[in-house]
Amino acid sequence: MKNIAILGFGVVGCGVAEVIEMNKDRIAKRLGEELAVKKILDIREFPESPFAALVTTKKEEVFEDPDISVVVETIGGARIAYEYTKMALSAGKTVVTSNKELVSTHGVELMKIAHDNHCNYIFEAAVGGGIPIIRPMHRCLAGNKIERIAGIVNGTTNYILTQMAESGADFDAALKEAQSKGYAEANPSADIDGIDAQRKISILSTIALDGAYVDPTKLFTVGITSITTKDMEYAKEMNASIKLLAVFENKEEGAFAFVAPHLVSKDHPLACANDVFNAIMVTGNAVGDVMFYGQGAGKLATASAVVGDVMDAVEHQSRNAHVAEWYESESPVLSPIEEHVVSVLLRLPSSVSDDAIAEAFPEISCQPCVYEAEGEKAVILGKNGDLNEAKLAIGLESFDEILSVIRIF
Ligand code: HSE
Repeated sequence: MKNIAILGFGVVGCGVAEVIEMNKDRIAKRLGEELAVKKILDIREFPESPFAALVTTKKEEVFEDPDISVVVETIGGARIAYEYTKMALSAGKTVVTSNKELVSTHGVELMKIAHDNHCNYIFEAAVGGGIPIIRPMHRCLAGNKIERIAGIVNGTTNYILTQMAESGADFDAALKEAQSKGYAEANPSADIDGIDAQRKISILSTIALDGAYVDPTKLFTVGITSITTKDMEYAKEMNASIKLLAVFENKEEGAFAFVAPHLVSKDHPLACANDVFNAIMVTGNAVGDVMFYGQGAGKLATASAVVGDVMDAVEHQSRNAHVAEWYESESPVLSPIEEHVVSVLLRLPSSVSDDAIAEAFPEISCQPCVYEAEGEKAVILGKNGDLNEAKLAIGLESFDEILSVIRIF
């Protein structure tokens, strides 16, 4: 019998206990022994839960029990989860987590503690929920230089944008709908301001850079709060969808990582991911494009990835780490975002003259958009690769009113 503990009995923690119970026979067959949840650490009581008898508020019952070698952390956040993760790793227990905030903030330190204590800190569920992405990147794609990652990695914002596109709802109405369905948090800022996606792309970028840590808080990030129904009209006329993309690029000019809403052609595979689904396209210099698609959140889907990690940990206790150890690089790992080449759809009031646009963006390719709503003019800038974020920011300062700027993927 292999015993584990779960820290935090919220949606995902409960899903982990359920998946282990639901698939116990095949898990036992695979591991050669039964996998059991021995303790669940939480400050709350769960009298109605079939796992109520396992719940404890005493942390020593987890951290001081030599019989528990793997701990699942599904508390979330970077405070108590951080303390408990350090405690577990220092005690030589492998920690499996879905906590992207903690991994992206303290991953370097936590992986070092794991290494020093001959255990592992693993987090397949931290990006893409149930979608396998961390292990495939680290293992199956290890022979490649990762040239690009482009992902829809936040289900809540994808749901909101899908609603806006399909039902014509405005942002506020679509957000309310997402909240009523339980997708968005009561405080939805981490999702709609792009912070959740920022954390996830920092994790993927760090893996793509063989462990050179990419700090999420330094990434250029634009959320979806300024997307309007008018933007959706333009997208439709351009045969495109608006998607919040988290992007990593490693080109000759430099490496970049950022999060922003993009117009994605409906012919591109990423445009197929709607509602709460996630999709991540990874481009390797040997394999070309590979695409990962599935449920990026939710109880059983996320638990599926956690349980996979737990089984991996049990099978390879002290020599596993499916992620290379992370480190703080002495030189900057990313180039300044100002150097990143972009092309954008720019919407302005119709009172702005063509000359004013040409003056704001000298020597930048500029073509009128095929569609213009009443009282507006719209142009596509930078189609020839002659615009970067610095020139865009300077040019935009020339206008008193801007209706929207959306990057084109
Ligand atoms: N809030 C996240 C999302 C949960 O909507 O994708 C999964 O990380």
